[in-house]
Amino acid sequence: MKDTSIFLRACQREETEYTPVWLMRQAGRFLKEYRALRRRFPFLTLCKTPELAAQVTLLPIERLKVDAAIIFADILLPLEPMGINLEFTKGEGPRIHNPPRSRPEVQRLRAINAEEELPFVMEAIRMVCQELKGKIPLIGFSGAPFTLASYIIEGGGSRDFVRTKALMYKDPSCWHLLMEKLSEVIISYLNAQIRSGVQAVQLFDSWAGILSPNDYEEFVLPHNQRVFRELSAGVPTIHFATGTSGLLELMKEAGGDIIGIDWRIDLGEAWKRLGYEVGIQGNLDPAVLLSSPKRIQRYVKEILDAAKGRPGHIFNLGHGVLPQTPEENVIAMVEAVHRLSRR
Ligand code: CP3
Repeated sequence: MKDTSIFLRACQREETEYTPVWLMRQAGRFLKEYRALRRRFPFLTLCKTPELAAQVTLLPIERLKVDAAIIFADILLPLEPMGINLEFTKGEGPRIHNPPRSRPEVQRLRAINAEEELPFVMEAIRMVCQELKGKIPLIGFSGAPFTLASYIIEGGGSRDFVRTKALMYKDPSCWHLLMEKLSEVIISYLNAQIRSGVQAVQLFDSWAGILSPNDYEEFVLPHNQRVFRELSAGVPTIHFATGTSGLLELMKEAGGDIIGIDWRIDLGEAWKRLGYEVGIQGNLDPAVLLSSPKRIQRYVKEILDAAKGRPGHIFNLGHGVLPQTPEENVIAMVEAVHRLSRR
């Protein structure tokens, strides 16, 4: 029998019969049903149609046998009601056509009421919860203030984040105003998701690892701290970033019951530095899923060995699953985590 609450118990750092596992971007392009839906609908239409978003959320559940679902949405959705003009272009990813880079432009950004302005996300959450019937928990999520700010200022993805850093250094008070506005939106958005039924939330600070520890402390930490402080109590929180070797202790100080890490750091070493009073999530390199079942199993075992069976490890990739990943390799990974971690 599968234990229905194994993921949530691991979030509380309780002993579990095996290590729970889910994958960032588990509901996405590596699934052929997803690609088929995308031939019929643009990405934002999938996100904004609750029946479709719920359907996509559930696609990987039975097949992959993961221990948690994550609601199908995007970290950039709350930017639209703030007054940001968002588009997902073919092959290039997100584009923002009116990136605010000055104080008056930042001042014009609107605070939002997430229930009223992103009702499709809340409706999709209610539909998924009804379908799952408590079989496995549903994870809600949001981008963190820094990662959202970087998309807003750069006008899309970036390699070096030069515009973001320039604003931060040249006009710190404008930077903090932007971070405060984003924090308020994120708090409203995540608490609305919790009211709608998600049983855990993940804050994606995907690009925070490009900052020095001192800059993180000054420009990011107080805002992330506020977000974690103002989330509804009782729901486990996962604080994820990549390239975090220099930031682990500060991320812990910022908050989160579980810290999410990528493959650039050994999981055992990261957990030791963090301390065992927080949980840890990670950290297989998604590219390993492009190899063979044999190699996948070897890497899975190395990560499980690094965690030493301590309560509070949630197995995941170090970043999202790659679109070209063969489905059978993901199935083999989940199976290996369950089998090799069974106590
Ligand atoms: O994990 C899941 O399965 C839930 C859905 C989810 C999506 N995006 C769907 C999506 C989640 C949790 C996200 C988070 C997200 N979105 C992040 C943080 C995680 C990370 O990867 O660092 C970021 C930075 C974004 C912003 C974003 N959305 C980018 C940069 C892109 C384009 C690049 C890419 O990977 O396609 C997206 C598009 C997006 N979000 C897709 C999906 C399934 C692909 C859209 C398509 O079908 O073409």
